[in-house]
Amino acid sequence: MAKLWKGRFSAGTHPLMEAFSESISFDRELAQVDIRGSLAHAKMLAEVGLISKKDLAAIRRGMAEIKTEIDEDEFVFSPQDEDIHMSIESALTKKIGDPAKKLHTARSRNDQVATDLRLWTRDKIDWLDRLVEALQKSLVELADKNRKLVMPGYTHLQRAQPVLLAQHLLAYVEMLARDRERLQDARRRVNRLPLGSCALAGTTLPIDREIVREELGFASLCENSMDAVSDRDFVIETLAALATMFIHFSRFAEDVILWASGEWGFLRLHDAWSTGSSIMPQKRNPDLLELTRGKTGRVVGSLMTILTVVKGLPMTYNRDLQEDKEPLFDAVRTAEATLACLAEFVPTMTFNEQRAKQMLEGGFLDATVMAEYLVENGLPFRSAHEVSGALVRLAEESGRRLCEVGLAEMKEICPLFQEDVFLRLDPAKTPGSYKSAGSAGTKEVAKALTRWKKRLR
Ligand code: ARG
Repeated sequence: MAKLWKGRFSAGTHPLMEAFSESISFDRELAQVDIRGSLAHAKMLAEVGLISKKDLAAIRRGMAEIKTEIDEDEFVFSPQDEDIHMSIESALTKKIGDPAKKLHTARSRNDQVATDLRLWTRDKIDWLDRLVEALQKSLVELADKNRKLVMPGYTHLQRAQPVLLAQHLLAYVEMLARDRERLQDARRRVNRLPLGSCALAGTTLPIDREIVREELGFASLCENSMDAVSDRDFVIETLAALATMFIHFSRFAEDVILWASGEWGFLRLHDAWSTGSSIMPQKRNPDLLELTRGKTGRVVGSLMTILTVVKGLPMTYNRDLQEDKEPLFDAVRTAEATLACLAEFVPTMTFNEQRAKQMLEGGFLDATVMAEYLVENGLPFRSAHEVSGALVRLAEESGRRLCEVGLAEMKEICPLFQEDVFLRLDPAKTPGSYKSAGSAGTKEVAKALTRWKKRLR
């Protein structure tokens, strides 16, 4: 099959080269946005008089047919067409003849592919935003359903202080909110139009880029033709936002894996989301979460790919840039699939309240609150810390909890203790006395739940 750029060549392409350089096997993903871009370009060409109204009508008719064929899975994506842009253009030429040959007026595949990829990325960001929001909703509902459940909070994976489970879950809602902000922020810079930059220098023809911008809903134009065709920082930013989001998914996955372990015994995985072992009949494996953690490597890898592809590229377009698509497509697909699963999985999480109680019992989780009690009664914090530490040692040595140490023994170490200290010494009740804004206690968590339910409505 003759190439659209065949003019100055006499010999054909080596079949290995053809296979090596084709992108149609993956950039067919851009088919719909390529058509959208071409239609906007054609409309502009007609408005400025570079093609006739009749040409435009023919292009619209041909493109509509192609779109239907693609929608119905009847379009033939042939490797000889090299990429999606050539593929659609040659299909159009077959359908409508001469008017199709005018479509590429004042356009290059360089500004065309950059435009397509921006349109595609913009749509995907909007879709991903809704998926992340759905996951946030699931987490808020789960937090609300378990709003009374107190558990140990950890630092260094050592039990530290009692917290509400809801606070732990809402921490992920906050992370996801920032992930959405990052995607929105990337979107602002994705949302600029490269088309009209042509190969790299613009054109001598009297085009009007504003018409195309308006038609495709871009907020502004890429203002420098060379920059427009050669940079892929919008891909980098999008992938960086996705990689960061996956770091959060991965941490969530790790928490759930720990909770579901026999050692923790805090969470029972629903049948629908666990897998068995082919040899050990007792197993319930958290494969969804392990795969989520694993796929994080893949998305971070995609970010590394695009960073490395763009690094050191001379201006302007280089074919290296064809390597921008697969990492982006793969990361977005992976994000869509992961988000869909997680949003469905979260509502099935059921916690073992008995186990939460046991976990609160050991570990002197009320030691910090005891120190704060002494601070309220006038002791400098460093001294209060020491007193509380001494009492922990005393209790530990005698196999007791802090609340089981008698007031007299306490007074011996520090006379500031009064009977009311015992009101503070039940870890299960500690969250009731956290006061600071954003704390893990009853009042602040209730406020946070109300706030999130309102925001996510
Ligand atoms: N398939 C190419 C890509 O994805 C399209 C642009 C090719 N431009 C060119 N001058 N060869 O980057």
